[in-house]
Amino acid sequence: MIILGIESSCDETGLALFDTEKGLLAHRLHSQVAMHRDYGGVVPELASRDHIQRVMPLLRNVLGESSLTLQDLGGIAYTAGPGLAGALLVGAGFARSLAYALNIPAVGVHHLEGHLLSPLLSEPRPEFPFVALLVSGGHTQLMHVTGVGAYETLGDTLDDAAGEAFDKTAQLLELGYPGGPAVSKLAETGDPARFKLPRPMLNSGDLNFSFSGLKTAVLTLRNKHPDETATSDIAAAFQAAMVDVLAAKSMRALEQTGSPQLVVAGGVGANKQLRQRLVAETGKLGARVFFPPLDLCTDNGAMIAFAGALRIQQGQTGPAAFSVKPRWDLQELPRA
Ligand code: KG4
Ligand code: ZN
Repeated sequence: MIILGIESSCDETGLALFDTEKGLLAHRLHSQVAMHRDYGGVVPELASRDHIQRVMPLLRNVLGESSLTLQDLGGIAYTAGPGLAGALLVGAGFARSLAYALNIPAVGVHHLEGHLLSPLLSEPRPEFPFVALLVSGGHTQLMHVTGVGAYETLGDTLDDAAGEAFDKTAQLLELGYPGGPAVSKLAETGDPARFKLPRPMLNSGDLNFSFSGLKTAVLTLRNKHPDETATSDIAAAFQAAMVDVLAAKSMRALEQTGSPQLVVAGGVGANKQLRQRLVAETGKLGARVFFPPLDLCTDNGAMIAFAGALRIQQGQTGPAAFSVKPRWDLQELPRA
């Protein structure tokens, strides 16, 4: 069965076709980064309007690339939440109407479930159960994943998400939006040992995170060293602190669950330093780490098509009427 996946929860319109027998057929993305850059962050109303304009051309692209037509579709999956309400409604409205017109099932997918399962889209694939480190712009969670829809939260952030911390640090250092890639690029040329930033909650004894203090420490450091030459060293110090905390808690989660597999998902999973550290540390534990390919780390339609395909195959589709859930707890999902 061929499933169309539609992601429109934030500032990326992603469409993909996933074949339950052959795997991923095509995926295309339009990023709104250039449009939001002038505002220093995502403007929800502009995001919704842009999704409307992009979704149809992207659909034509993925169909054309796979030499398929609408009649070949067996189901449609769309991101139903969490995310920006208006942006979600574009994908939901488009997906539900198209499914109704084609008389095929549609399913609303949890955006984080998409991220969590995205490492299953490429080889080598992890097997259930595994520990997942979910690090995106809105979330920082360690989960114990025992099956599709069986997600136990082991740890969560008490304040800012990891990606948010990168984005806010980028703002403080005037590196623009989106912050993660900018900070990590600059950090490569900096000296991570020149400044020492705190490692929040490193020894808290649990698997929770807190990053807002780190952001304040970056601000204090910036005020003390306003010269431009310090910027790359501050970026490197910040990244080193983030990587230390994320890696230490991930290893603790592996030890606590006894799982030999760590899966990393979400935009911050694209961070090179984090990847290298997790490979090294899991190696020491005799465990393995799995990453989605770089282009599937950040938001995309492929992960939505994949998660939706699993649920459509279980008959978990909704009625033609639809709603979206801008706030949605991952643990509310039914077991597949
Ligand atoms: O998963 P994602 O694309 O969207 C959400 O669901 O939030 O994650 C976006 C986040 C942003 O905060 C962005 O700054 C961060 O991921 N990010 C990175 C990198 N690439 C993206 N953070 C650190 N290093 C990167 N290379
Ligand atoms: Zn995301």
